[in-house]
Amino acid sequence: MEAKLMLIKKGAEANLYLEPFTKVLHQAGGGKVIVKTRIPKRYRIKDLDLRLRESRTALEAGLLSDAKRAGVPTPIVYEVDKVGMRIVMEFIEGAQVKQVLDRLGPAEMRKVCRIIGKQIAKLHRAGIIHGDLTTSNMILKSDGKVYFVDFGLGGHDSSTEERGVDLHLLKRALQSTHFRIATRAYAAVISGYRAEFGKGAEEIINRAKEIESRGRYVAKEERAWH
Ligand SMILES: Nc1ncnc2c1ncn2[C@@H]1O[C@H](COP(=O)(O)OP(=O)(O)O)[C@@H](O)[C@H]1O
Ligand SMILES: [Mg+2]
Repeated sequence: MEAKLMLIKKGAEANLYLEPFTKVLHQAGGGKVIVKTRIPKRYRIKDLDLRLRESRTALEAGLLSDAKRAGVPTPIVYEVDKVGMRIVMEFIEGAQVKQVLDRLGPAEMRKVCRIIGKQIAKLHRAGIIHGDLTTSNMILKSDGKVYFVDFGLGGHDSSTEERGVDLHLLKRALQSTHFRIATRAYAAVISGYRAEFGKGAEEIINRAKEIESRGRYVAKEERAWH
């Protein structure tokens, strides 16, 4: 079944397929869906791998819906298949922010980054950590909305530390992918974050700076036992 789907991205954790709505969900409807399938990790003990993929699939689907409820644009989740380890979700037609951010004019760039900052604040206020804030995981639609995807490393947490890490990781991503505009881009993200988060924002922004000055931050995947 899977072999017939159209593969659009082969990742370390997951494969993504783009398919017509009707083919996957057997219901009437136009448009396309994305099917994200978590792939086995051969180096893990089989039982553990199954449990991890199952819980990550369920968690990611839940976070996509929670984020939407918090006012952050995310794809609609149509189906969570814990046996097949897959999420069927709305296909967001647009451009990866990674591909377009450097090409925008200064005012437009600032606007998009402010939106991103506001949306991160909305997530954080709702107790959600994205876990992988890079511009690859953001899609800019032609109506100006910025969709967040890939909550595969996310979770529920309201600590200053995890919120600070989220911001810090985005800063690092901007520095490595958009180095020419990184300083201005991050400043705009922070200005949006501050405006949306309100009281308490400063403590988190300062924590992000502190995390940076601590030196090398160990990524979530590397912190774990595997
Ligand atoms: N619902 C979606 N609609 C459109 N594009 C998507 C959607 N979900 C993911 N993508 C695109 O596919 C890429 C990979 O998906 P992602 O969930 O980030 O997988 P990975 O965990 O492998 O990074 C994303 O960077 C994004 O550009
Ligand atoms: Mg991704």
